[in-house]
Amino acid sequence: VNHAFVAGYPIKHSRSPLIHGYWLKSLALEGSYGAQAVSPEALVGFLQSLRDGTSGFGGGNITIPHKERAFSLCDRPDDLSRELGAVNTLWLKDGLLHATNTDGYGFTTNLDERAAGWDHCDTAVILGAGGASRAVIQAVRDRGVKTIHVVNRTLEKARELADRFGPSIRAQAMGEMPDLMKGAGLFINTTSLGMDGTPVPQIDFTTMAKGAVVTDIVYVPLKTPLLAQAETQGLRIVDGLGMLLHQAAPGFEKWFGRRPVVDAALRQVIIDDM
Ligand code: ATR
Repeated sequence: VNHAFVAGYPIKHSRSPLIHGYWLKSLALEGSYGAQAVSPEALVGFLQSLRDGTSGFGGGNITIPHKERAFSLCDRPDDLSRELGAVNTLWLKDGLLHATNTDGYGFTTNLDERAAGWDHCDTAVILGAGGASRAVIQAVRDRGVKTIHVVNRTLEKARELADRFGPSIRAQAMGEMPDLMKGAGLFINTTSLGMDGTPVPQIDFTTMAKGAVVTDIVYVPLKTPLLAQAETQGLRIVDGLGMLLHQAAPGFEKWFGRRPVVDAALRQVIIDDM
C-alpha cells in the first residue's frame, strides 16, 4: 500500500488531495494522499524523513513555496526540471529522491485536449514572468513554437527567462503588447491580473491570427477577466483547470502504479468545491 503527499505552506487551499482521492476511489486502490503543511524551516527535515523511509511516504507533490528549494535538495532531478530549477513531483527509489516537474505536461495536455492544433503557430505571447510562467515557456518552446514573446511589467524578469530558455524567447515590455498580438496564434496569461480587484487592462485579441487560442493558467475563477474579454471578442478560450488535473496524473502513476484518467466527472468534483 502506498502513501503520497502534497507539501506546501500554506497548504489548505490545495486541490490535489481531492484529485488523487477521486482517482484512488474510482480505481479502487488502497493507499492515501494527504496534505502536509511544511514550513520553510521544516522542508529539509521533511525531505530527509522521506529519503530515509521514516515518513512512510513513497513520494508526493511539492507546491508553493517549495518548488525551487526541493529541486536543490532532491537527489535525482530529471533534465526537464534541471533546466527549470523547480520540481513538483518526487518519488523514492533505492533510497534516493527522484524528481520531475509535470506543470508543462499538464499545460500542453490540456491544450491538446481542448484546442487541438494550438501548437501549429509561429508566435505565442505569454503574459507574466513569475515562477508559474517558467514551465509554460519551456513547454511551448519544446512543442516547436518559433517565437515566444514574454511580456512582463518588470522587463528584467522577462530578460532572465529569455537567457534561461534560449533565443526563441523574446523579453518584452507591457507597452509592446498591441504590436505583439498582431498575428499571434496563442496568448497565455500566467499572472494573477484582475484576481485582486485591481482593474484589468483591455487587450485587443481581435488582431490575433485566425483560429488563435487564448488560455490562462489561473483556474479560480474558471473564466478569468482576461478569458472573458477574449471570449467576448470571439476568440477560442481554454481555462486553466485542465492543467491542474493533468499535471497530477504522472505522479499518481509513479506512486500508485496505475495511469489515472482526467474525465468530466473529476473536473466537476473540483468545480463543485470552488
Ligand atoms: P507566480 O509564481 O504565481 O507566477 P509571481 O512570481 O509573483 O507569482 O509572478 C507574478 C506575475 O504576475 C509577474 O509576472 C508579475 O509581474 P512583475 O514581475 O512585474 O511583478 C505579474 N503581475 C502581478 N500583478 C500585476 C499587475 N498588477 N500588472 C502587471 N503584472 C502583474
